Amino acid sequence: MHLKKIKLTNFKNYPTASFEFDDKLNCIVGNNGMGKTNLLDSIYYLCMGKSHFSLPDMNVVLHNEDFFRLEGHFQLSDKKHKLVAKVIPGKKKVIENNDVAYQRLMEHIGLFPVVMIVPDDTRLATEGSEGRRKFLDNALSQLDKEYLLQLVRYHALLKQRNAALKQFAKSKTFDYKLIKTYSEQMAQPANIIFEKRKEFVANWLPEFLKLYALISGESEQVDCKYVSKLSEADFMYLTEEAEEKDRILARTTVGIHKDDLSFQIEAYPLKKFASQGQLKSFVLATKLALYEILKSTKNCNPIFLLDDIFDKLDKHRVKHLLKLLIDKEIGQVFITDTHEDRVVDIIKEFDVSHKKFVIDRSEV
Ligand SMILES: Nc1ncnc2c1ncn2[C@@H]1O[C@H](COP(=O)(O)OP(=O)(O)OP(=O)(O)O)[C@@H](O)[C@H]1O
Ligand SMILES: [Mg+2]
Repeated sequence: MHLKKIKLTNFKNYPTASFEFDDKLNCIVGNNGMGKTNLLDSIYYLCMGKSHFSLPDMNVVLHNEDFFRLEGHFQLSDKKHKLVAKVIPGKKKVIENNDVAYQRLMEHIGLFPVVMIVPDDTRLATEGSEGRRKFLDNALSQLDKEYLLQLVRYHALLKQRNAALKQFAKSKTFDYKLIKTYSEQMAQPANIIFEKRKEFVANWLPEFLKLYALISGESEQVDCKYVSKLSEADFMYLTEEAEEKDRILARTTVGIHKDDLSFQIEAYPLKKFASQGQLKSFVLATKLALYEILKSTKNCNPIFLLDDIFDKLDKHRVKHLLKLLIDKEIGQVFITDTHEDRVVDIIKEFDVSHKKFVIDRSEV
């Protein structure tokens, strides 16, 4: 799968811009704040129907404009796809594939697989569980339509259950029957999501361990476990047990919305003991392993968006990483860097087809 060209209109700091890409490696260089990350985000947006940074669309549209539009020309095996996103914040967004609009955005997810790595991803290890669940959800949504369907169902019910709990707290009443009905409806999507997350982690973990060893040159041992209360007891038992707590706190305190991944380095929690370079290696291995799984499941090379990945990595790790990217027959890659020289030096070492883009919007 390749993105041949993209056209941006009113997307973040781009009033209008077009780029024609190389099928292999694209290096996007420029000073801070020029729009390198924004360009990667526009590619991500076309593939996933939203910004990678969980931004509401009104923050994506260029300041003082009321719409944005993205047009991407993709090649998927031997078929051409023109993807167009037309977005007016506050209105239903339109995504068209070869001039046909999707009824639901959900139909689009997973057709154009993409993996993006950004500097902030180290928060996956260092911060709360939300980012790690997002990683699982992003991965599984692209891999499995049923997962996304059940996830949407679960969250809609969770919202209703929480609203009811809040209402009861306010009115100082409690309808056990209604809460139990919500729990019963949530049990099925919860179980499906739990099983699918468990299966995904089981497939992803060996890849992750292998890749971490390759990137770090086997300098340290890491591990990861999927943590979910559903592995201890069934959903109905858990919600009944937590009913009193839910009533007092006026929110649903158990369920798959509390799941987590626990990462360890040399048997200690990663978040407390990893160095910055180790964290970066960890992020790379996490996402590269996802790339591998998407690639084998989808039978195509996802687009790989690497934002500022060389920063904080020592020379050895950069070399290991690039060798890995090139040896593994990774498809189309987009790399951003503020140091043009660093990118040029790296490319010289590897004989790979590429294109360089210098982003300088200071004159615009
Ligand atoms: N909705 C928007 N409208 C206009 N400008 C925006 C919008 N959103 C972000 N920007 C601007 O885009 C610029 C940041 O672009 P981006 O993050 O892509 O830079 P970068 O080249 O990746 O920089 P760095 O090297 O620091 O990572 C900032 O100047 C920011 O103000
Ligand atoms: Mg950036």
